[in-house]
Amino acid sequence: MKRILIQNGKVVLPQSGGKWNILIEDGKIKEIGEQVSATADQIIDATGRFIFPGFIDAHTHMGIPIRGTQSADDFDSGTLAAMYGGVTTVMDFTVQDKGESLQHSLERRMDWAKSKARVDYAFHCNVTDLNNDILKEIPEIVRRGVMSFKAFTAYREAGMQLHDRQMMDLLWAVKHAGGTVMVHAENGDLVSFLTDMFVAQGNTSAAFHAHSRPAQSEIEAVSRVLTLNQFIQCPLYFVHLTTTEAVQMIFMAHENGQPVYMETCPQYLMFDKSVYEQEDGYRYIAAPAFREKSDVAYLWQSLNQRVMNVVGTDHCPFTIKQKDMGKGQFHLTPNGLPGVETLFSILYSEGSRKGRLPLRKLISLISEEPARLFGLFPQKGTLLPGSDADLVLFNPQGSGQISAANLHSAIDWSPYEGMETIGQIERVMLRGQWLIENGKQTGGAPGFGQFVPALI
Ligand code: URP
Ligand code: ZN
Ligand code: ZN
Repeated sequence: MKRILIQNGKVVLPQSGGKWNILIEDGKIKEIGEQVSATADQIIDATGRFIFPGFIDAHTHMGIPIRGTQSADDFDSGTLAAMYGGVTTVMDFTVQDKGESLQHSLERRMDWAKSKARVDYAFHCNVTDLNNDILKEIPEIVRRGVMSFKAFTAYREAGMQLHDRQMMDLLWAVKHAGGTVMVHAENGDLVSFLTDMFVAQGNTSAAFHAHSRPAQSEIEAVSRVLTLNQFIQCPLYFVHLTTTEAVQMIFMAHENGQPVYMETCPQYLMFDKSVYEQEDGYRYIAAPAFREKSDVAYLWQSLNQRVMNVVGTDHCPFTIKQKDMGKGQFHLTPNGLPGVETLFSILYSEGSRKGRLPLRKLISLISEEPARLFGLFPQKGTLLPGSDADLVLFNPQGSGQISAANLHSAIDWSPYEGMETIGQIERVMLRGQWLIENGKQTGGAPGFGQFVPALI
């Protein structure tokens, strides 16, 4: 029975203040409070440090096929990057091949992650080839610990787009299985039409990525799915939102009683569409596209609202060589950006320290809320007695700079190169084992990560 006592830290629980101690026993939090003391195998002095629950990245794509290539991080390199960023649980997605059952797609993904993952992981189930047999599988997938099903209103060219009737059938089936439907909301027909038009005109520079995936494509798709769901009332979670109008519509739908939740990503808080004008602008191609400066400002504000629940990263990195395959041809560029390692540091440095995001809300967005929405709470996402001892010790003093040279993803560039950050993640613990100590990896070999089933 191994006991670790962390003393004198700061926490951001509702009752925070003072100096807090946490006793960890056998991988679980045993006690937390201002008066906790005990004999222990290891005592850590956390004076001047915050103790946060381990972060949860609710949106990663390790090694997924996109535009003839595969995102560069597998579960090994991707979860190494995660642990350096304090992310102790990643939520990734199954990939359903044409004609493949959901169960088979889940098994394939589980097999792949099992020997590689260094941090814990859970899955969302992609539904891209939908028919009646697939709908019948949904309750069994939920029983197997996956309660969120992702649908796309886009990616028509990749054969992933569901039409409205399919969307309604999915919403209905998932609601009755007790799950949640996640939606990638862009109008795929509009995107496909505009893409073909710009390509035919020879307009293929990175700037046309944004023109081919305009704000209206997101606004229309969000509006349509909210409308369809009025008749079903399935819990609904919109991923990677980018526009003021879509976020406002979701606020309104929530006020009108729809069980609707949402996510945005660090990249949509950091960049507007002017990045596509840069010489290396094509590297920033991701779907949806970046928007106006006013949208970026609004997204920051929206983080302070209750119904903006999660910041997930949509971690889907490609190397320079992979990105170069689409140089000058936006429609051939593999879409996606890295994010898992810099999730907290960006939100902290750009949000909390600039007075745009209270620290308590930040931690909720990347820990408690994803755990609650996706059935992992209270095992994950909190520092309650009985929870897994997943935690991050953060020193808010000092500063640093983001550089690809110091990051751990399998790519050779960073969209955030040179960005100033504040503070340092000094220690990271997963289930009572140190992964990072004094900023360096000391644990978390491939295979240490475990599947965390969602409980509904
Ligand atoms: O461009 C992106 N976001 N790539 C990852 C796949 C997705 O749509 O989330
Ligand atoms: Zn997406
Ligand atoms: Zn994604």
